[in-house]
Amino acid sequence: MKAAVLGATGYTGMLLLRLLSSHNKIDRIAAVSTSAVGKAIETGDPGLYHNLDGKYISIDDLKEFQPDVIFSALPHLASLPFYRDFIGKSVIIDLSADLRYENQSDFENAYGTEHKAPEFLGKAVFGLSEWYRNDIKKSDLIANPGCYPTCTLLPLLPLLQEEVLGGNLTANALSGISGAGKKAKINNLFVERSENSCAYSPGKTHRHQSEIQKELNYTGKKSDLLFTPHLVPMRRGMVVTTTAELLKPTSDDEISSIFDKYYGNEVFIKVTPGSQPESSHVWGSNRCDISWQINNKRIILFSVIDNLLKGASGQAIQNMNIRFGFKESEGLRTWGDL
Ligand SMILES: NC(=O)c1ccc[n+]([C@@H]2O[C@H](COP(=O)([O-])OP(=O)(O)OC[C@H]3O[C@@H](n4cnc5c(N)ncnc54)[C@H](OP(=O)(O)O)[C@@H]3O)[C@@H](O)[C@H]2O)c1
Repeated sequence: MKAAVLGATGYTGMLLLRLLSSHNKIDRIAAVSTSAVGKAIETGDPGLYHNLDGKYISIDDLKEFQPDVIFSALPHLASLPFYRDFIGKSVIIDLSADLRYENQSDFENAYGTEHKAPEFLGKAVFGLSEWYRNDIKKSDLIANPGCYPTCTLLPLLPLLQEEVLGGNLTANALSGISGAGKKAKINNLFVERSENSCAYSPGKTHRHQSEIQKELNYTGKKSDLLFTPHLVPMRRGMVVTTTAELLKPTSDDEISSIFDKYYGNEVFIKVTPGSQPESSHVWGSNRCDISWQINNKRIILFSVIDNLLKGASGQAIQNMNIRFGFKESEGLRTWGDL
């Protein structure tokens, strides 16, 4: 099968190339770039094994390549001009926010800019693999979720669905700096970020807040999320701690059996009752680890992912595997690095 990656020199693009180059079902890969056309891929990413030779190509050359699947790892709104050329011919898995909303004003409120191709809104399935697997199998347009939404939603959705919790939810998230992408920004320099941490876009102002809330709303249960992310001095990794009121007295065993019902057969979700998940446990894997603690009438949920894997490129490969009927874990790791 032929796969193409747009934005191939960015963090998620580079990781997609690495994952695809060792995926058993992928025979040919096109690395599409705006900044590195004609350069050897090996020089663009020296971390790649030598099984991916060749050069970065332009989007114009991609038509001739006729990919079965395209991963767009571009900034938001950058891939829309290309969709028309490939829709109906290739399965598109977009890692940006362009396809995640059904509603134009929701996108525009979150991103503060006009959506240039609203006709595509509502056409894609939200690629939270464990929750939309059946739709992903049938869709040629997959909107990969953001890393914060993935890590926040996975522990919350089963408990909201089962009406164990609801109402006011408070999520505090920590993210590694690679979550901001490779583009040079003063705020992301080593001197600014090492030995330093801060909240940013707190409460309802972060763009991922509405993405998480819309998915919570789809359960049909009432909830109101306050989401506050923090930058912490690590390269990769994400930790989310969510606090909620229990709607009824609930025991640890009941929480355990709900997670077992929803995630007992999930290869990439590890529920770790009684022990605290840490970002290093899932680093390099496509896993989300989940735990909780009950405090009288409240519950604290803990979840961790690798932002570049389950939060981006790993989940994108998982979605490709689902869509094309491959083994869901093909090309992905369930174990974290030391
Ligand atoms: N980083 C994460 O943890 C994460 C998690 C979830 C989702 N995402 C989403 O995934 C997408 C890619 O993120 P990333 O972290 O890989 O970003 P990145 O490191 O900044 O890479 C984006 C790449 O897109 C290409 N590009 C094309 N037009 C561009 C433009 N106008 N400005 C900047 N880059 C342009 C560049 O590659 P070429 O020069 O090779 O074309 C660039 O390297 C984004 O939409 C992001 O929101 C990221």
